[in-house]
Amino acid sequence: MTRLFVIFLLAILSLCACIPATVDMPAVMTGVAVAPTVIARLSTPTALQASAERMDEGLRIYRNQYCGVCHQLTVGGTTGQFGPSQDGMAWTAQRRLLDLTYMGQATTPQEYLRESILSPEIYIVDGYADSSHHMPSFVHLSSQEIDALVYLLEHQR
Ligand code: HEC
Repeated sequence: MTRLFVIFLLAILSLCACIPATVDMPAVMTGVAVAPTVIARLSTPTALQASAERMDEGLRIYRNQYCGVCHQLTVGGTTGQFGPSQDGMAWTAQRRLLDLTYMGQATTPQEYLRESILSPEIYIVDGYADSSHHMPSFVHLSSQEIDALVYLLEHQR
């Protein structure tokens, strides 16, 4: 039995050796090379892919609206200093809600972010009241665009 197997292996090896170097890689071999990519794609949950797309959409709007002129956001490569940094914004938003001087309507980080972008005057972050570059309201954006910005910021940890 073992001997049979060895002969079988030798036969396969000699067959492979016969393939001239110039011949295109057999389909099977190409398949072997492509398989990991396909497997990786299949194993990426759709939800993850969708969230990556939403993040990209948020970043695109963030850049188009020049938020980064005033804000630091590492994932967006921006370093603005006129407003507070938006790295770790998920935690920052939670902290703002716990601030006793917060008088807005928001009860969740998402609501806080939406409110900050649409009605920034409701809560001015400590130290920025006299900023030479006030946070402008972005009411002119569509609700989808606001959603995308909120999604981007609520995922900064
Ligand atoms: C001209 C400068 C400027 C631009 C442009 C700007 N911001 Fe601001 N932003 C500020 C300042 C200053 C503050 C802090 C004062 C305040 O709370 O309103 C602020 C505060 C915020 C806050 C609350 C932050 C916190 O720590 O609680 C959010 C959220 C925010 N900005 C999002 C955005 C987004 C999104 C954009 C782009 C669509 C943007 N900002 C564009 C200046 C700016």
